[in-house]
Amino acid sequence: LPKRERLAREAWPNVFGKVCIECHSPDGLAAQQNAELRLMPSTYPGFLDANLKNLEHMAKLEYDGKSVLLRKPLGEMGHGGGAVLKASDPAYAELQRFVESLGSKDCGEDASADEAATELLDERASLRRASVILAGRLPTPEEAAAVEKGGEPALADALEKLMREDGFYDWLRTTFNDVFLTDRYLNWNKGAVSLLSEKDFPRKDGWFDEQSDDRKWKINSGLAREPLELIVHVVRSERPFTEIVTAPYMMVNPYSAELLEIQPKFKNAQDEKEFVEVAVKTQRRVSWPHAGVLTSPMLLNRFPTTPTNRSRGRARMVMTTFLATDVLDIASRPVDPVAASAGFLNPTRDSAYCSFCHRELDPIAGAFNKYSDNDAEYYDPERSWHKDMVPPGFGREVMSTSEHGRAPAWLGERLAKDPRFPIAMAHVVYRGLFGREPAAFPREVGDAERFTRELAVWREQERLLRRATDAFVAEKFNLRALVRELAVSSAFRASGIPKDVESERRAELADAGLGRLLSPEILSKKIRAVTGVRWTRDWDKQDLLLSEYRILYGGIDSESVTSRLSTPNGLVTSVALRMANELACKLTAWEFTRAAKDRVLLPHVTPEQLPETPGGDAVPAATDAIKQNLVHLHERVLGERLTADDPEIERSYRLFFDTWKEGVAAVAKKQVSDSINWSCQGRVDPSSGAELPEGERLSKDERYAVRAWMAVLTYLFADPRFLYE
Ligand code: HEC
Ligand code: HEC
Repeated sequence: LPKRERLAREAWPNVFGKVCIECHSPDGLAAQQNAELRLMPSTYPGFLDANLKNLEHMAKLEYDGKSVLLRKPLGEMGHGGGAVLKASDPAYAELQRFVESLGSKDCGEDASADEAATELLDERASLRRASVILAGRLPTPEEAAAVEKGGEPALADALEKLMREDGFYDWLRTTFNDVFLTDRYLNWNKGAVSLLSEKDFPRKDGWFDEQSDDRKWKINSGLAREPLELIVHVVRSERPFTEIVTAPYMMVNPYSAELLEIQPKFKNAQDEKEFVEVAVKTQRRVSWPHAGVLTSPMLLNRFPTTPTNRSRGRARMVMTTFLATDVLDIASRPVDPVAASAGFLNPTRDSAYCSFCHRELDPIAGAFNKYSDNDAEYYDPERSWHKDMVPPGFGREVMSTSEHGRAPAWLGERLAKDPRFPIAMAHVVYRGLFGREPAAFPREVGDAERFTRELAVWREQERLLRRATDAFVAEKFNLRALVRELAVSSAFRASGIPKDVESERRAELADAGLGRLLSPEILSKKIRAVTGVRWTRDWDKQDLLLSEYRILYGGIDSESVTSRLSTPNGLVTSVALRMANELACKLTAWEFTRAAKDRVLLPHVTPEQLPETPGGDAVPAATDAIKQNLVHLHERVLGERLTADDPEIERSYRLFFDTWKEGVAAVAKKQVSDSINWSCQGRVDPSSGAELPEGERLSKDERYAVRAWMAVLTYLFADPRFLYE
């Protein structure tokens, strides 16, 4: 085994990550005694490579021809930890094998052909998946043809184009709101405005309350969306993405600018969607110390502080969001707070148990030293940091007091340079694309089979993330490079598991996930893209998946529900069924009222085309037309290209045929009405709600064809391939 692989499979889970990390973690007992052996926990992004580097260095230190890595754990050379292993332990044998492998030149990865084992969508189908998820639309026929002809390079080109559309910027907002949760303040007309301090922005009450409802909404959403618009702005203007934590400005639209009494230049001062950069100076004549989203007034409010919290919650958010490090995960040992604080006047700083986390957390909290404890975004240059806390800083670096006035910017500069920043951003994009968390390094060593399986999943994903972050960094932190690399990857394009793979591998690949449940945001766009209409509620024309059913369908409200469902439960399934029923009802008869060339779903048939004559003779021409339309539907709704003799088409045809046959018989016996159910009749334009003229309406269905097509559409809209990508 190559050394990196040996570390991942044996030496880490059984030795370093189990025995040694207890004292050799970055703030453990050994580190406090200045031992050079420092092990990063597996939750640390890139921990395997960081540890390998450190261990290679340590292994070279020898005493009497034997590496200290092999001597110290036996208690030799006065090891500070004593004898933690016996020479006869299996774990010691693994340690020996690992140290031997370090000598080998072989630094390659395990060259297992994992990727080849999954079947990939072809370029055309991959483009459809990417277009739906990233831009909320279907590819045009021209785009599909270009990708079919040009292969993978053409796919990458097509993605670059997609990533400059409004739909993509919507995806960016949703993806980053999942982290920032600031859309909570869009909830009502004053959700964001009410957060501001009156001293700084006197227009927030009297002036604001006098505005029309329409203007209130535009002002409030301009302010509420300020951090997400900064993200969009940085990407749109092709700047390095690190600017999101360093930008010396915030974003305003013409309406929020008026509220803040700032007068930047707009191209169109009526356009609430236009956002520009401003540096804020308040009515107290205080300049804000901008550092991108770190100083976003919305984010500061969404992650507020208290006199005892001292911005530690913010520090934790900064670490998880921008450094991919959950400080709560670093400590693997149980903390007994009573024992830990006993005997310390200031345990967070001085007790090893508490400082383990707080040594990392508290300096970052210090970057927010000048923000009020009671009014989250209120900036007070006169405040000074708590004397009993470690000083503001980053890692081991202490911020000089001359920098305290621009502390957030100082922190932002360090975040931007940290090697964990690209990994953290890759995680955010990964969630937005794949709809799930990236897999963690497996912890349970007890179940060896499971460990091996999870390790394989993790390794494959790690390779993918590494490739993506390398491109991201090489292309000057262009976020689109990150999205592109993930979207052309085999993980994103996986389509199914080939039948010849043995069962264990199948479980592994299924774990890696094939397709995702679409979020309510993406599904509502997909419905529109596929059918030409939206699924809305009658009274205010809101998309049902973004209002009524947002939470039931697994989405978030950024307030009490803040994490998404990635696997469907019973409620999700019932909402999907309801959607399928209602859409089919709304669309089928309506489509038949249009000229064939204007129909999106049923262009190749008429309700008069039926498989058999009333006398029971087959009508081959009609059957062909019906099948031709089914081929069209399977491609449009499910994205699969089939021929008329495919078994899938045959199955859909049987559904049509059986429904029709039964229905016609029931109508003849007067068990069923010869009219279409009132709400499903073709009487109104489903998009505009406009009534059709009398002569264009379709309400009769004596031969049951309309209702048979309705059954087919319901079946297709409820298909997992429609609900997943
Ligand atoms: C109970 C705590 C503890 C455990 C567990 C422990 N160590 Fe240590 N280790 C120490 C301390 C304290 C030092 C610093 C004093 C010294 O040099 O011995 C140290 C030092 C070392 C050194 C010398 C490093 C240097 O930079 O001077 C090596 C090598 C080492 N340990 C290896 C290991 C290995 C390998 C394991 C796991 C198999 C391990 N230790 C587990 C506490 C521990
Ligand atoms: C596993 C990591 C970890 C350890 C160990 C730890 N803390 Fe914390 N502590 C945190 C985090 C993270 C926060 C911020 C929580 C938040 O606000 O989201 C925090 C917050 C605090 C706060 C502010 C609470 C508030 O909101 O008012 C205090 C006080 C504190 N810790 C004291 C201690 C003491 C004392 C110890 C040792 C007995 C300790 N912590 C051990 C991670 C840790």
